[in-house]
Amino acid sequence: MEGLKVPNHVAVIMDGNGRWAKAKGLPRKMGHVQGGKNVEELLYVCDDLGIKYFTVYAFSTENWKRSEDEVSALMTLLRSYLSSGFKKAAKNNVRIRIIGDKSGLAGDIQDLIRDLEEDSKDNTGLQFQIAINYGSRDEITRMMREVGKKIKNGEVDPEDITEDFISDNLDTKGIPDPDLLIRTSGELRLSNFLLWQLAYTEFYVTSTHWPDFDKDELIKAIEAYNKRDRRYGNAK
Ligand code: IPE
Ligand code: IPE
Ligand code: MG
Repeated sequence: MEGLKVPNHVAVIMDGNGRWAKAKGLPRKMGHVQGGKNVEELLYVCDDLGIKYFTVYAFSTENWKRSEDEVSALMTLLRSYLSSGFKKAAKNNVRIRIIGDKSGLAGDIQDLIRDLEEDSKDNTGLQFQIAINYGSRDEITRMMREVGKKIKNGEVDPEDITEDFISDNLDTKGIPDPDLLIRTSGELRLSNFLLWQLAYTEFYVTSTHWPDFDKDELIKAIEAYNKRDRRYGNAK
């Protein structure tokens, strides 16, 4: 780790829970349970390494198409983390924000999110973003609709629309763009994640499934990132 430049913002497409479980002869659900535990562990690893922003893709707008059984297992896990594991993180100075369309989530989950965001809003440690019911196209569509209303009622002049204006009107407002995107489990696609924000982000894909992606794996990703020659984005 010595001498390594640590990225300011690491984003992760946490993929492969199902394949991890399958390889062990377990139900997919168990992969998600193990994946959840891994998120909680990596939070503290990121903080220790000096990463300032950590964003994870937990549930996409497309993931509703999975079986009812799997969606309900994922929502149960989510409830449990929002009411205990992430609450504990908030007590440890972690600031938690949810990106995605919260209005599409169950009422009790929306309440848990509101409390967690409110309780952690002044925390100055790791800035942790969880993408839930998130899709980049959906985020941009919602943003356009809101901006359209503001133009209509005279609050916004079309000439005011700049790149910064757009960034400030997305779910990620106030959060710098990711420096490093990690996708576990080998797929080479974005799956509708942060299309605008990843414009100049470095990508790192590993065949390791998410439940096995530990501190050593994260350090390997940071080492690879250090070998990249960045031109734009947050390159210094
Ligand atoms: C990622 O693991 C977790 C979620 C999308 C919720 P998957 O469930 O996609 O696992 P694979 O891709 O089927 O192995
Ligand atoms: C991406 O994984 C979404 C999350 C990690 C939440 P998926 O497994 O849902 O994506 P696809 O289906 O491989 O594109
Ligand atoms: Mg997958």
